Amino acid sequence: MGIITDIRNALSFIYRGEFKEAIFRLRVYFSAIDFSYASIQTLGLSAERSHDYRHSGGIHLEKVLNSFKITTQDAIIDFGAGKGGALVTFSKFPFHTITGVELLPELATIAEHNFKLLGITNVSIVICDAAEYLDLESYNYFYFYSPFPQSVMSAVITNITNSLTKNPRTVRLIYCNPEFTDMIENQSPFYRTDIFHHHQLDLPIFIYTNQP
Ligand SMILES: C[S@@+](CC[C@H](N)C(=O)[O-])C[C@H]1O[C@@H](n2cnc3c(N)ncnc32)[C@H](O)[C@@H]1O
Repeated sequence: MGIITDIRNALSFIYRGEFKEAIFRLRVYFSAIDFSYASIQTLGLSAERSHDYRHSGGIHLEKVLNSFKITTQDAIIDFGAGKGGALVTFSKFPFHTITGVELLPELATIAEHNFKLLGITNVSIVICDAAEYLDLESYNYFYFYSPFPQSVMSAVITNITNSLTKNPRTVRLIYCNPEFTDMIENQSPFYRTDIFHHHQLDLPIFIYTNQP
């Protein structure tokens, strides 16, 4: 079933004329690069703090990033970085800092192995609970792909908001599979400016900012 899905995905990219993505997927498929799904049960995670691992990197996320003019002044965090799928996509842009925050050291080790196989050297991973990561002042992009339940998400949004007091700046949240929009829209300074669609995952990606 997995093989059929992977081949079907690669063929659908070829069909849509997205050859680079199809080649990348085939390369991942035939190499030791690992972006495979892992449930919280397999990972030994608690449903109170975490969601499953699955990845959102690739051409659909790249299209979102293309809509911003990313420069060497920009820095991004992927909260719940897992095996690094989204970080691989971010590494193609000229961010001066790209950081993944991941709870599980095992997933961070797999991510680092994936980066090595892909020749990626401009990404680093911090191992900790996202709610405890407070070194946020130098970042202006924050990415979330459904990484954790509302209590953790709410703490991270509060941390980002507090970082705006320490270093006032314009920031963007890129939120794939936005489950907790009410919390963001009613309890934070962020408002929605755009909606994209991740066609492969068939999920919306909401963009939020704090300043016009
Ligand atoms: C849906 S995956 C997203 C992976 C990656 N961001 C991407 O888009 O390709 C969610 C990840 O969040 C991690 N995670 C779950 N709870 C966390 C927490 N409280 N703090 C940090 N990471 C967490 C999981 O281990 C998993 O790797």
